[in-house]
Amino acid sequence: MIQIAPSLLSADFARLGDEVAMVNSSKASMIHIDVMDGMFVPNISIGFPVIRSIAAIAEKPLDVHMMVCDPGRYVGQVRDAGADIMNVHWEACTHIDSVVRSIRDAGMRPAVTLNPATPVMMLRDIICELDMVLLMSVNPGFGGQKFIPYTVKKTRELRQLIQDSGSQAVIEIDGGVNLTTAPALVEAGADILVAGNYVFSAPDPRAAICDLIEISE
Ligand code: DX5
Ligand code: ZN
Repeated sequence: MIQIAPSLLSADFARLGDEVAMVNSSKASMIHIDVMDGMFVPNISIGFPVIRSIAAIAEKPLDVHMMVCDPGRYVGQVRDAGADIMNVHWEACTHIDSVVRSIRDAGMRPAVTLNPATPVMMLRDIICELDMVLLMSVNPGFGGQKFIPYTVKKTRELRQLIQDSGSQAVIEIDGGVNLTTAPALVEAGADILVAGNYVFSAPDPRAAICDLIEISE
């Protein structure tokens, strides 16, 4: 069954506690937190103090998506803030192998994110070291963007790579996920769908999460 990771980027930050409580009481599997530095991506979002406050009330694992340059600098701070999964961009790390090792050594689950134009094959030699691969289905930096269709083909390629290598990594997709784009991703082998705008702009966000899950039932 598909798992859903609501992205708090589209939450109402003035009511962040209520929004986290909504996710706690929903069928979501984890909470997706987008960290942006204004360099790796054009936007700036939230940082460690906010993650710590979320961690204090979250009843689901925190999936922290680091859209920052050289994220290996922050492994200790991400762990101390309460992350369970640390997602780093392949494009942002000069020494991705050592960053992945340091995330695991710090006691978190390592995940590597690929931008839309980065081929799945870049992960061939480290796929067995990863607990998760995140495929961006929009260019990162903003919520509410349009889904890039070739992500479906990349999801299939990644599923094949994982199968051929014997890796335990799960496949997460991020960007433009909604009831129209999700079915092809589920069919192609996605395990987890991040959903920001679709969930938080819905009149009933908990029901929107259920609607996404039902696609795979
Ligand atoms: C985009 C972020 C996403 C974003 C997804 O850079 O990484 O997590 O919140 O938002 P939607 O689901 O609105 O496309
Ligand atoms: Zn994200």
